[in-house]
Amino acid sequence: MRVFNFAAGPAALPLQVLEQARDEMTDWRGSGMSVMEVSHRSKAFIAVAQQAEADLRELLAVPGDYKVLFMQGGATAQFASVPMNLASPDACVDYLNTGSWSAKAIGEAAHYCQVNVAADAADSHYTSVPPQSSWKLSPGAAYLHYTPNETIGGVEFGFVPQVAAPLVADMSSTILSRPIDVSRFGLIYAGAQKNIGPAGLCVVIVRADLIGKARRGTPAVWDYQAVADAGSMLNTPPTFAWYLAGLVFKWLRGQGGLAAVGERNRAKAELLYATIDQSGFYSNPVDPAHRSWMNVPFVLAVPALDQAFLSEARAAGLNNLEGHRSVGGMRASLYNATPIEAVRALCDFMLDFMRRHG
Ligand SMILES: Cc1ncc(COP(=O)(O)O)c(C=O)c1O
Repeated sequence: MRVFNFAAGPAALPLQVLEQARDEMTDWRGSGMSVMEVSHRSKAFIAVAQQAEADLRELLAVPGDYKVLFMQGGATAQFASVPMNLASPDACVDYLNTGSWSAKAIGEAAHYCQVNVAADAADSHYTSVPPQSSWKLSPGAAYLHYTPNETIGGVEFGFVPQVAAPLVADMSSTILSRPIDVSRFGLIYAGAQKNIGPAGLCVVIVRADLIGKARRGTPAVWDYQAVADAGSMLNTPPTFAWYLAGLVFKWLRGQGGLAAVGERNRAKAELLYATIDQSGFYSNPVDPAHRSWMNVPFVLAVPALDQAFLSEARAAGLNNLEGHRSVGGMRASLYNATPIEAVRALCDFMLDFMRRHG
C-alpha cells in the first residue's frame, strides 16, 4: 500500500512514473535488458538523455544561450563548483544567508574566494528574508548566490533579486514548483531528489558566456565547460536517475506544465498554512510573506506530544513528518508528486489530533 509521503528529500515520486519504470524494468523498450544495463553511449540511451534535456528546457522555457548539464555530487558539490568555475581566487562574491543551506554554501565558497555575506537572517532565526534595500552588495562581485527556498527553515523568497552581478540560485527544493524566468539567472542548480527524480543527479542550467573560465586545478568533472563539451557524459552518468528524471519531466508536461503545477502547489500550501494558523495549537514561525510552498515546518503547542503526533500520523498513512534533525518539530514537504488529497488528509488528521489531545 502506498502512503502519503511528506519527506523533504529523497521525496515522493509520481506513482505513474514509478509504475512505468516498474513495467519497463526487466525489458526496456524491447532490449531484453533494463535501462540500467545498457551503455550510456548507446543510441537508445543518448536519445533518452537528449529527450530529458529537451523536456526540461520546454518546461522551464530555458533560453537557447543556456547550457543544461546533468552532473553528480548533489547540490553540495555545486557549493564548490560554483566558485571554482565563476570566480578567481582573488575575486569577491556575494552571498545571502537565509538558512542552513545558504550557510553551507557560504562555508564551502570561503575555501575558494573572498565571500561577502551581503545579508544575514541568522539573527532572526532564519524566519524571513532581509529586504533587498538592506543588502550590502560588493561592487564588482563575480556573482550573487542565494537559496530561493530554504528546505529546513521553510523560507522562500517569492521574488528574484535585481542585482548587477550574475545571479546564482540553489533551487534544489523549489525548481519545477512554479514557472520561473531563467533569463534572470546566471546559473541555477538543483539536486534531483525532490522535484526532479531520484538522488544521484544534479541539474545545472548556466548561461553559456559564464563558463569556460574555471580556475586551474578544477577537476574535469566539476568544470562546466568540460561537462558541457562532453554532453554531460564526460564519465559514466547515473543513467537510471537520468532516465527517471526524464519520465518525471514527461509527467510534468502531462500535468499541464509549470503554470498548472504552480497553481496546485499554491493551493496545497495555502490549505496547510490556513489549517496551522487557524488552529491555535499548531504554529509556523516564518514571516507570512516568505513562507515556502514546498516545505512547511510547524510545531505543536505541547512539544511533549511530538512523538504521539508522529506515530498516530504514521498509523494514518501520513509518513515522514518529522522536522529536520537540526531543528526538531514537524515538517511537511509538499513537492509536485504530493497530491492535494495528501494535504487534505494531513489537515484532517491535524485537526482530529488537536481535538483529542489539545
Ligand atoms: C536547498 C538545498 N541545498 C542543498 C542541499 C544538499 O543537496 P545534496 O544532498 O544533493 O548535496 C539540499 C538537500 O536537501 C537542499 O535542500
